[in-house]
Amino acid sequence: MDGPSGSGKSSVSRGVARALGLRYLDTGAMYRAMTWWMLREGVDLGDPAAIAARCAEPSIEPGTDPDGPTIHVDGVDVGGPIREADVTGAVSVVAAVPEVRVRLVALQREIIGAGGIVVEGRDIGTVVCPDASVKVYLTASPEARARRRSAEVAGSTVEAQQEAMARRDTLDSTRKTDPLSMAAGAVELDTTALTLDEVIAEVLRLVAD
Ligand code: ADP
Ligand code: CDP
Repeated sequence: MDGPSGSGKSSVSRGVARALGLRYLDTGAMYRAMTWWMLREGVDLGDPAAIAARCAEPSIEPGTDPDGPTIHVDGVDVGGPIREADVTGAVSVVAAVPEVRVRLVALQREIIGAGGIVVEGRDIGTVVCPDASVKVYLTASPEARARRRSAEVAGSTVEAQQEAMARRDTLDSTRKTDPLSMAAGAVELDTTALTLDEVIAEVLRLVAD
C-alpha cells in the first residue's frame, strides 16, 4: 500500500490486515524512528554524510499486530514521540539518504519474510515488495488529506497541515532514491469521496479477485 500522507494508508492497511488475519507493517514508522534517534543524538540533518555515517547504529523494532502496532528504538517505546512535529518536519530529509533506505529496506524484507502481511509506505510496490500479490496506490485530494490530518492533531489548522504536507509530498516524490511513485501493476484508489469502510471493502475485493 503506497501513497502520500493522509491518503489513508495506515487505517486501510490495518483494517485489511485485521479482516484477513494478516500481519501489518508501517514502514513510515521506521523512517520516523530513525529520525527520532538522529534528533536525539544531535546529528546534523543538513549533512547527508553525517546521517549516513550513523544510520547503522540504532536498533529499530516495529511490532506487526494490526490491533496495536508498536515501535521501539534500542528498546525504548517511541510510538508517541515519532508523531511529534519535530520528527514529522525532519523525516523526509532523513528518508532521502540512500544509506538509510538500504538499511531500512533490508530490515523490512526480513520482517516481511515469506509474506502474509500488509505493508504500507512510499516505495513498497516499487522497491520493497515488487512481487506483492496485490499493490494499491491510495490518493485523495490535498484538501481532504489535510482535513483528515488536522482532525487528528490538536490545535492544527487545515491550511497549516496542507502546507506542511505539500512540502513533504514534494520532498518524497522528487528525491533521487526511490521517490514516491505508483508501482507497475498497482491499482490506484482515490479515497477523497469514500469512507474508510468503503476503501477497505474495495481493497478486500481486489485481494479476492
Ligand atoms: P496515511 O497513513 O496515508 O497518512 P491515515 O490512515 O493515517 O493516512 O489516515 C489519516 C486520517 O484520515 C485517519 O484519521 C483516518 O481515520 C482518516 N481517513 C483515512 N481514510 C479515510 C477515508 N476514506 N475517509 C475518511 N477518513 C479517512
Ligand atoms: O504519517 P504519514 O502518513 O504522513 O507518513 P509516514 O507513512 O509515517 O511516513 C513518514 C515519512 O517517511 C514520509 O514522508 C517519507 O519521507 C518516509 N517514508 C519513506 O521514505 N518510505 C517509506 N516506505 C515510508 C515512509
